[in-house]
This record gives sequence, structure tokens and C-alpha cells, in this order.
Amino acid sequence: MCGIVGYVGDRSALPVLLEGLKSLEYRGYDSAGIAMPARNGAPGLEVVRRAGRVDELVAAAQARELAATAANGQHAGIGHTRWATCGEPSEGNAHPHRDCTGNLAIVHNGIIENHLQLRQQLVAAGHTFSSATDSEVVAHLVEERLTAGADLLEAVRTAVGALHGSFAIVAIDARYPGVIVGARVDAPLVLGLGEGECFFASDVAPLLRYTRQVVWLADGEIAQLSRAGARIIGLDGAEHVPTSTEVAWDREAAEKAGFPDFMLKEIYEQPRTLRDTLRSRAEPSGELTLTELAISPAELAEVNKIFIVACGSSYHAGLVAKYAFERWARIPVEIDVASEFRYRDPVLDAKTLVVGISQSGETADTLAAIRYARTQGARTIVITNVVGSSLSREADAVLYTHAGPEIGVAATKTLSTQIAALWLLGLWFAEGTGAMEREAAAEVIRELWRCPELMEAFLDGPEGPAAIAGIAERFATAPGWLFIGRGVGFPLALEGALKLKEISYLHAEGFAAGEMKHGPIALIDKGTPVVAIATHSRVLGKLISNVEEARARGASVVAIAQQGDERVLEVAADVVAVPETAELLSPMLDLLPLQLLAYHVAKLRGCDPDRPRNLAKSVTVE
Ligand code: G6P
Repeated sequence: MCGIVGYVGDRSALPVLLEGLKSLEYRGYDSAGIAMPARNGAPGLEVVRRAGRVDELVAAAQARELAATAANGQHAGIGHTRWATCGEPSEGNAHPHRDCTGNLAIVHNGIIENHLQLRQQLVAAGHTFSSATDSEVVAHLVEERLTAGADLLEAVRTAVGALHGSFAIVAIDARYPGVIVGARVDAPLVLGLGEGECFFASDVAPLLRYTRQVVWLADGEIAQLSRAGARIIGLDGAEHVPTSTEVAWDREAAEKAGFPDFMLKEIYEQPRTLRDTLRSRAEPSGELTLTELAISPAELAEVNKIFIVACGSSYHAGLVAKYAFERWARIPVEIDVASEFRYRDPVLDAKTLVVGISQSGETADTLAAIRYARTQGARTIVITNVVGSSLSREADAVLYTHAGPEIGVAATKTLSTQIAALWLLGLWFAEGTGAMEREAAAEVIRELWRCPELMEAFLDGPEGPAAIAGIAERFATAPGWLFIGRGVGFPLALEGALKLKEISYLHAEGFAAGEMKHGPIALIDKGTPVVAIATHSRVLGKLISNVEEARARGASVVAIAQQGDERVLEVAADVVAVPETAELLSPMLDLLPLQLLAYHVAKLRGCDPDRPRNLAKSVTVE
């Protein structure tokens, strides 16, 4: 949660900070702020903070007549967009937070677990606090060390040593012109290296317009940036040599490309992102090579149980994968919401494989689950979209989803590519252990390679999207929605309901259709929308019976089904036709109408689909 930017170089810092915060707004947007050295060499800092979105901050900076020119000498600065954890969203709790002298300011992402104790000590030592946040202790801790004679880098290093929790911090001090200092412990912080300029950011999106050369800070590293470049030290003060990598994502990929919202653009990108996830791993002819997994067939054969841990939509990707893994690889799969996993004492050992799924690669619960699995001697694989993310460094092996930057807070293309990566993993497992014949696995891969085309046929053909838009219009005011499915349609029902509630704030629940009679059917009233995932499967007949039961009680049934399926046409008031594929691969097609339905309902209700209230893209606290 929270987005951080920092800049030092020849440009005027203000536009770099404001643009950067806009591209990080998906990480949190209940308040925002910036700090720069005061104009024209005046002493102290210029700090502007506002409750609300980054646009409020932009207006406030304009009102202060903060010129976006390099002539005012403001060539360095730090900025923050907040998702409140400790202290309500307000201007007073917005970052940057200052020390008692007003020369130093810090921004922070994460949680300082020992902040109450530190605050007591600092207050007893004479410091004055002006916010209710945990973050402000960092400013006063650094201040203490600066007062004792340390320079900014050293002061941040030793202050970090006193903190418990997960955090990324960036500090600026008017008495140290031309430098900014940042530190990372369990929360993302990346450095961008340009010509005569350097950047800090919570992810690469704000950097792409300036540079593609980045350094992923490791946990426990502290970096000092200046026009001359980056100096990195460890918590022990030892010098570390910065190793930069070039990011492949381009700026265009992080912009809207003519779509009204990022979410819609990202829904429409899915055929391409699916191809990108498959490419170089699975040949359209059926060959499969997952060299990045670095586990030999002999080691593979030893695995006797798989656990999948994830949160939110990633959890639904895991549920989809469970059906495929068990059918293809004949291996038991357990799936856990990551926040529950380690507290229930799961039985793990060297023969267990734990797969963590996270689009952001930063989700605190999934990270903790993977760490816990390692302490128990289990093998770990992570599926994530973000190269260099915290999770990608924790696991024995990583499968990247190659979906490109996803800006919409609610997962769309990261989810479909996670599912694809999991299927590849399942097929590789099934083939490697001999549970599936080579040719049978190749057949699935060939069908999987057809999916991008089928997805395009749905998205570009006018009927499906138009039908969804019409259904959204008719039901946009319905107070409660039910989504039902059986088999691999069940996780899709959960995802359809989650997407709708995330971005339209309507009450929606997903159920295994067979469970309807055990309670949920009592919710059905005349006209209650019930969305049924009714594509071909071995349990379609049973699902149709459940749909009939709902219809008999007044439900308005919307079915996602194959074109012209008579059985479904008879029981559903609305049918949205998707192209047919293999049963286990059908989620790839069924996802599209569910995502579009949530999108259209959100728009009709005046909600911002890219930045839903109360949610954040990267959930770095438990
Ligand atoms: C947030 C996002 C969801 C996402 C979930 C899990 O709540 O808004 O879209 O599914 O986190 O995130 P992860 O990064 O672990 O996949």
C-alpha cells in the first residue's frame, strides 16, 4: 500500500513528483503530499499535503504558485500517495512527515510495528508529534541521529535498525542539498538511474518516462541518490555495488491507449498477455519447457502434495488450478487463503510444494506464507507479475506472468495470466511425473494456444460485449447479486462476485451451485440477478437443475454459455455466448463477460473502476 516517489537531478522536481504520484495512485489515494527544498535557496523545506486524490495535491501546489520550472532551484523532492493504515485519512496524517526542526521530511510505505514504544521514547526525549501515524516516528528517529552528528545516509541507516515491521522509506533534508536517501525492508522500493538524475519509486511505472535502468533494492539496503548516481549500503554499513537491470515494460503499456479506463484496456489486452505468458514456454505445436523452474524430474517425482496460497483474485486463480492439477497430475492439492495458512499449522515437509500466487508480488500474507513454508523445509514456487518483487526473491523458483503493468486496482489481465501460468505448471508436473501422456499434454497446450484467438473473437465480436452492456443497464440498481457455478465454474462464480463488489460496491456473492439449496436460495426474490457459469462441463446438467430452482423462485437468470446451447436457452432469461474450448480451459473465456459486467455496472453507478474505494493494488500489511 502507499506509493512513494523521490527525485534528484537537473529537472524541476515538482512535475516529476506529481506525475509519479499519479501513476502510483492505484497503490492508495486517500491523501497525498510532496516535500522539496524551499524555493530559491531559502532555508527549510516546502511541504504540500492534501487529503483526497493526487489531483487535490496538484491543485494545492498550483495555488501555492509552486512553479514547475527548474529556475526555482527545486531539483530534488519526495512524494507520497497514501492508503491509510495507522491514523485516519486526513491532511495531518498525509505524508511527508517532518521532524521537529522542519528541515527533514520522510515518506513511508508499510507498517512500523514498534511505533508506540518508539513514540513514547521520542516524546520523553522532547520530540513533538503532529500526526497519528506510525510513520512519523521515522522522522524523529532520523532527526535524533542527525542532531548527534550523523550525515543523512548514516542517520537513516541507524534509524532503520531501530524499526520493526515492513517498510520502504525515503528521506530528504534541506541541509543536505542534492541528495535523497531511501531504505527498504519488506516493502518495494526501486531506483531509477538516468543521465545526471536518479529516482526512487514503489514500482517502475513512474520511472518509465525517464529511464528503463533500474536497481531493485534488496531488503536491508539503504541508498543515497544524487545527480552522480546511487550509493548503496547494507544495514551493517558495508558498501554494496548497485546492479542495474533494464526493464522491458514501456511507457505506453502503462498508459490508457485510447480506452476510457485502465481496467477496460487491461480486459482487452488479455489475448495478447496470454500469448506473452505462453510464449517461450509452450510451443503452439504442444512442446512445453519450463526451464525457469530449476527443479529436476527426479526432485519433481518426490513431491507428494501441493499447497496453493494466495489472496483475492489470485486465490481464485489457485482454485481454478486445483481442478486442473488434480485431474491432470493426479496429485492432491490444498488451497488456502494466505492469511490463514501459517496460523493453522499446515503439515509441510520436503515433499511438499507450496505455490504462492500474487500479481503484485508484495502481498504481506502471501509473502509470510511462503517464508513459513521455507522454514518447514517445503519447496516453493511463486507466480507473480512483478520482476524483482519481494515474493520473487523468496521462492526457490519463479514463474512470471508477463502481463505488463496492471494499473486498474482490481485484477483482470494478471488473473488470466496467472491461470495460464498455473496450467503450464500443472501440465509440466503431469508430464514430468508420468501422470499424463506427452501427447495428451500437447493436446491441452495446442488448445490453450487457441484461447487468445477465441478471446479476441468474443471481445471484438459485437454481440457478447453488447449483451453484457445491456444486462448491466437492466440490473445496475439491483441491490444483491448471486453468481453460481459448478466444477471449474465455481471459482469463476467467486471471481464474478468479487469483481462486481470490488468496483461497483454492490452486494454480490459467489456460490457452488450445489450449495444453493443449503441456504443461499433464501436470498432469491423476484428479479434477483443470478449469473450462472453454464459453459459445457461434465456437471452442466446438474447446474441447469440448480438454475431452474433459482428461476422458479423469481430469479432473473443470466447465463454465460456456449452459443446456441438449447438447454441453457430454456432456463435463462439472458444468455451471453462465449466460444467453446476444453472444459478445464473454459475459465479463460468465461472470465471476460464477468469482468465486463463488473466494469459496466461500476460505470453506470458512477464508480471509478480503476480506483475503487478502500482498496489498494498492493497490500503490504497483514
Ligand atoms: C488486492 C487487489 C486484488 C488482488 C489482491 C491480491 O486486493 O485489489 O485485485 O486480487 O490484492 O493481490 P496479489 O498481489 O497478492 O495478487
